[in-house]
Amino acid sequence: MTATPLSPVELLLKYDQPVPRYTSYPTAASFSSAVGAKQMRSQLEQPSDAPLSLYVHVPFCRHSCWYCGCNRITTQLGSKVVAPFLKTLKQELELVTAAMPSRRRLAQLHWGGGTPNYLNQEEQQKLWQLISEHFDLEPDLEASIEVNPEFLSREEALGLRDLGFNRISFGLQDANPEVQKAVNRVVPEEQLCQAMKWLREADFESVNVDLICGLPLQTPERFQATLELVGMLVPDRIALFSFAYLPEKLPLQRKIKAEQLPSQRERLMMLDQANRLLISYGYDAIGMDHYALRDDSLAIAAREGQLHRNFQGYTTGGELDLLGVGPTAISQFKHLFSQNQRDLKPWRAAIEAGVLPVERGLEVNEADVFERRGLIKEVMCHFRVMIDLKRFAREWADLKELATDGLVMLHRDGDMGEVVVTTEGRWLIRTIAAVFDPQQRQEAKGSRLV
Ligand SMILES: C[S@@+](CC[C@H](N)C(=O)[O-])C[C@H]1O[C@@H](n2cnc3c(N)ncnc32)[C@H](O)[C@@H]1O
Ligand code: SF4
Repeated sequence: MTATPLSPVELLLKYDQPVPRYTSYPTAASFSSAVGAKQMRSQLEQPSDAPLSLYVHVPFCRHSCWYCGCNRITTQLGSKVVAPFLKTLKQELELVTAAMPSRRRLAQLHWGGGTPNYLNQEEQQKLWQLISEHFDLEPDLEASIEVNPEFLSREEALGLRDLGFNRISFGLQDANPEVQKAVNRVVPEEQLCQAMKWLREADFESVNVDLICGLPLQTPERFQATLELVGMLVPDRIALFSFAYLPEKLPLQRKIKAEQLPSQRERLMMLDQANRLLISYGYDAIGMDHYALRDDSLAIAAREGQLHRNFQGYTTGGELDLLGVGPTAISQFKHLFSQNQRDLKPWRAAIEAGVLPVERGLEVNEADVFERRGLIKEVMCHFRVMIDLKRFAREWADLKELATDGLVMLHRDGDMGEVVVTTEGRWLIRTIAAVFDPQQRQEAKGSRLV
């Protein structure tokens, strides 16, 4: 007798373990202070004429959303903190580019945070100018920015597009007023619609919205209303995050009453409901928590096997080296990960002393790690992978278990095995990728799956 297949919600419940997001392999959890400015400097000194991806971390926010797990500083001081921040960022760009043997081109630029639109328009122009003084911006530069819709104005939306940004992302999270109050992030629906209207008027090539599932007072009915609003706004891309509730690590989250959180089963039901609704609106599911309209470049890249992954999530821009500036920013090279000082003070102190502000990182040289990185990337981005069964017999045995739940299909051809992730399996893509991560066998690290 064949067992009845598990429903998506039952599958999520069964495999609900902390698993990394695999924006890199090895993950940031294995960074250590053994890697610092010295290693980063020798990396930067290596000659290369390949274009780069640049990430700029703007840590400021005007107020604190209680759910937030991002590295940010809440302050009302505005230009009083931004002016010294830009001054230090200029020094950091000088330090970094002085270490490079030649001027580099930029193919991708991303401003994240915090809230990059904490900067006023004049400060935004100044920061763009600073970057263009240190790098050659490619004519087809993919330039993206994260903004908080609460403070977005029409002039700012048009100004960002004029500056050269062609992609933009804003946090919608949840549109319900009760939920918004329970997390201290009140942005009325009219403001969300207005923000989207201005971004469309500014003619951004791609607009992304972030949603969070699992917030306090969220119910399937309320979340459905948020999703219906999203269906009306028609963003090109949607990031549907599952609320990472870590009150021991994030003191502000203690303001959220645990008894107001939806149960794990309710949360999974909402994710399942979101998945069905978004697909019915014409979105393709990309990996586990990203959706894109069928004609968006991310959906096209997923269909054509051209997706890539870095610390910002899924990208279409090839395997570029990623250079991160600003506090907490991560740089990602083939053989080196390097993360900047998390706090503003030590970040500034290092730069003022003429030292690259690296807090921790990781060097990668072992062939086995590169091979596993390749396999994890294939699973996360292309949803299929070929493995050498003589080398990965243990992994193959684990995959057979996942196959019994319909998450993968396996085909054996001599000593090679092909793994194909099923539609159901895309929900649990991180669990499938974790099969190739030996650290996951020893201890469960990362956030809960959903
Ligand atoms: C830097 S913020 C986005 C830009 C801007 N600051 C805003 O709030 O609109 C990055 C995104 O991370 C997500 N996020 C933050 N904390 C989270 C948490 N604890 N669990 C899940 N998602 C979270 C939110 O969806 C948020 O929009
Ligand atoms: S969600 Fe955005 S605005 Fe809110 S605290 Fe986090 S980074 Fe700041």
